[in-house]
Amino acid sequence: MVVSDNTIGTNVGRDMLASGGNAVDAAVATAFALAVAYPTAGNIGGGGFAVVRVSGKAYALDFRETAPIAAARDMYVDSNGKLTDDARKGIKASGVPGSVAGLYALYEKLGSKKKSWAELLAPAIALAEAGFIVDEAFNRGITERIDRLRAYPASTALFLVKGEAPAVGSRWKNLDLARVLRRIAEKGNDGFYKGETARALVAQMKRDHGLITQADLDAYRAKWREPLEFSYRGVKLTSMPPPSSGGVTLAMICHILEGFDLAPMGYQSPQELHTVFEAMRRSFAARNAKLGDPDFVKMPLDELLGNAWANDQRATIHPDRATPSTQLESSGTPSGSGPHTTHFSVVDAESNAVALTTTLNWWYGSGVTVKGAGFVLNNEMDDFAAVPGTANGFGLVQGEANAIAPGKRMLSSMSPTLVTGPDGKLLLVAGAAGGPTIITSVFEELSSVIDFKLDGAAAVSVPRFHMQHLPDVVMYEKEGVAESTLKSLEAMGYTFKERDHIADAPLIVREGEQWVGLAEPRRLGGLAATP
Ligand code: DON
Repeated sequence: MVVSDNTIGTNVGRDMLASGGNAVDAAVATAFALAVAYPTAGNIGGGGFAVVRVSGKAYALDFRETAPIAAARDMYVDSNGKLTDDARKGIKASGVPGSVAGLYALYEKLGSKKKSWAELLAPAIALAEAGFIVDEAFNRGITERIDRLRAYPASTALFLVKGEAPAVGSRWKNLDLARVLRRIAEKGNDGFYKGETARALVAQMKRDHGLITQADLDAYRAKWREPLEFSYRGVKLTSMPPPSSGGVTLAMICHILEGFDLAPMGYQSPQELHTVFEAMRRSFAARNAKLGDPDFVKMPLDELLGNAWANDQRATIHPDRATPSTQLESSGTPSGSGPHTTHFSVVDAESNAVALTTTLNWWYGSGVTVKGAGFVLNNEMDDFAAVPGTANGFGLVQGEANAIAPGKRMLSSMSPTLVTGPDGKLLLVAGAAGGPTIITSVFEELSSVIDFKLDGAAAVSVPRFHMQHLPDVVMYEKEGVAESTLKSLEAMGYTFKERDHIADAPLIVREGEQWVGLAEPRRLGGLAATP
């Protein structure tokens, strides 16, 4: 089973399974196909995380971008102490890309080897060379970000036709990217981090006064991390440890909520939602203040993941009143929001599985296309606390632990997660796009299945809610939420903010002996498919 946000990406993964590849082969092929066919978020100019299970053993791969060597703590602060726009758009927003190193590491360590590296790239190369027919999802992805793409000549040349998004039904190719992918197919990491591709990237940096140098590309390494494992009501979760906050935050939410019996409260009843929001609020307060890159900061993980912490948090939850976020640690002035990322999941016939989330941060990242190389650079630097205590583009108010330093990885919310039952059998493969709403939407899907026994189709469709400590508001999807539920919660002290679409969270779930794949119903163009 393969599920992704893009029809072509899913089909490439499915074909790889059908022709004898394992879940890892399919994931690598899908990721490269997404870099061609879903360039809003699919990428080779960004980074991500993967949680993998092969032959029953779990692995976690970190291919997050790093701050360039020339980065400095206050690089996005102007002379008045205010945050500049540079962390969010343009070439200075880019961290050193990790995707190619990550996909190569996946292939090298866990690929079946029935498929060569070049075979995994072949579908993406063919797509980039021959092109594909533009569908509504592709057209819309560009239309919604057209101002950003118009601002950069190489992006305009690549993505726009006479200044507009390519028309639905027209053919779109990316020959520059095809050449880059051919070099990667031939030379592995060196096809990206050295030679002609690296020269194009560094030349772009020089032209536009960006920070990434050849030394940054030489220094980049994907890292295998110890997967974060914890339990929730008898199932085992395997998720991503720092520098993603995903696993730790998910664990904190689960640990707090294990002390409450949610099911008898009633699905999405005011009492149940209140309990969940308070667990999210407390877990995000700790996340925002304490988490960062483990290679740079010491984090109190034993404390945050321990029983005493969860007990203490639970004791402060009032049964029928919201706790104002200002009463919990961490402070600042939140604002803003902005999407996009992509998550996909694969399970093969041996129950090997890959949950992989990859991103440029926002749609088309920095907006800058590397001239002659056909790929967009990320704007991941905004995931740092550029001014600790001031909100980033997702409104996250984060602390010193996530301040900028050369070579450091910015804290992420990406939460690729595998769930296994008490018998050790795989139950669920999850993950999402949507900045901090990744963590909460993954929890909600998990809780829908585990606490409330919803089937997969219901679990991805039910209204989503999100609380991240600051701003002290609950985001929610209006469709399907009873007015009376909101009224009761408002009376308890909650403020709500409507959003028409929270997170893209495709899911694979085992129902009996059957794998069921659910594409994100909120996103145009997603697909689940089996060989
Ligand atoms: O790593 C992170 O947490 C963010 N860069 C993810 C960005 C994202 O999901 C954007 N989508 N809405």
